[in-house]
Amino acid sequence: MDAIRIRGGGPLQGSVRISGAKNAALPILCATLLSDGASCLRNVPALRDIDTTAALLRFLGRNVVVAAPRVDVAAGSSVRPEAPYELVKQMRASVLVLGPLVARFGHARVSLPGGCQIGARPIDQHLKGLKAMGCTIRLERGYVIAEGPGGRGRLRANEIYFDIPTVTGTENLMMAAALARGRTTLINCAREPEVEELGRVLNKMGAEVDGAGTDVIHVRGSERGELAPFDHAIIPDRIEAGTYMVAAAMCEGGDVVLDGAELGDMEALVAKMRAAGVEIASEGRSIRVRRRGPLRPVDVTTTPHPGFPTDMQAQFLVLMSRAHGESVVTETIFENRFMHVPELQRMGANIALRGNTAIVKGVDQLYGASVMATDLRASASLVIAGLVADQETEVRRVYHIDRGYERIEEKLRAVGANIERVRGAES
Ligand code: EPZ
Repeated sequence: MDAIRIRGGGPLQGSVRISGAKNAALPILCATLLSDGASCLRNVPALRDIDTTAALLRFLGRNVVVAAPRVDVAAGSSVRPEAPYELVKQMRASVLVLGPLVARFGHARVSLPGGCQIGARPIDQHLKGLKAMGCTIRLERGYVIAEGPGGRGRLRANEIYFDIPTVTGTENLMMAAALARGRTTLINCAREPEVEELGRVLNKMGAEVDGAGTDVIHVRGSERGELAPFDHAIIPDRIEAGTYMVAAAMCEGGDVVLDGAELGDMEALVAKMRAAGVEIASEGRSIRVRRRGPLRPVDVTTTPHPGFPTDMQAQFLVLMSRAHGESVVTETIFENRFMHVPELQRMGANIALRGNTAIVKGVDQLYGASVMATDLRASASLVIAGLVADQETEVRRVYHIDRGYERIEEKLRAVGANIERVRGAES
């Protein structure tokens, strides 16, 4: 297994190109199952999760060519509406084939994703919605068996209320509704920009989606029972952009331009960064991040979009570990998303955990150490900490980071970081 070694140093300066959004690419690639035509997705990042999705689509019978930033998906000889545990266990988002498969083929057998490092993450809302569209759902030996009305019939539109705004739940039901008979209304939806992006693509494919990006979405299903293919370039990754924003602000003198990033999708994060004393300005199709003074402590609470993103909690917490004073970071989305804290404490950070809250007292210095990545965003926070720690930090189990960050060590080196990947560092 690879590791990443970082020698802490001075401020980052220069520019970084922001890749396409992982969490937009995954559902959109699954949406290709709604059409037999040849679809093309552009601006796709080269990530392990994209490869896993491609492998899943191939297993389902699709011809998939991944040549990042382009992915081509076309119908193969036959379809096997089944997502096996071996693939789903690698990436929970594989559950996003469930809605398209049962809507398109009348039945599907998809492995339950099971829990993950950051929380139990049930899919009850996904299943509740499919039942409301006329599906029968059985759970059998770790698999969800979904069948359309009357065995393999077309799904029926309905009004569905989410007990909790769920990103992939909203996306799964939008895709199912795109082939259901009639007009579905989804209420209390997730409003993330990635949900909105999926809405744009479904409209390109011939569905009628209104309100994506708001808490009420209407979807009129296609009468034809199949959608048209698409050619689409996805939005930039706001979480990748946010991660580099924090990296740039870790040191006084930091001055980094994020090419291709859009402020519009990052308001909550930008507001907190500015409150901490970081200068953030839009420059054409880029964002410039500068730090020219001390960091002020700022409290954050993660909430669904447009609130402060949980996927930026770990990175922001590292920033606050260097602020002048005490800040409180509260995680309300996932019940176990502070796995990075014990590793940061090993680097000398002063953080106390109280249930779903971290009390962070800023320190003058972090110390290089060997640390263990536990999940995607936690691993990003450890790399950021290593950028300002003294001596050397070695982040292990970086396969987590390869799931969601394209060529992170190259991008950081381009703005002055002393960072390298050590192949096979761990047995
Ligand atoms: C998406 O996960 C993202 N993944 C996550 O990003 C992100 O952290 C999360 O949304 C929240 O923003 C993708 O888009 C592929 P949820 P998702 O369903 O859809 C509970 C990253 O780092 N819930 O919105 O799985 C759930 O347990 C990843 O890129 C139910 O109770 O998250 C959680 O507490 C990590 N029942 C809350 O809702 C359900 O049926 C929000 O989860 C569904 C969810």
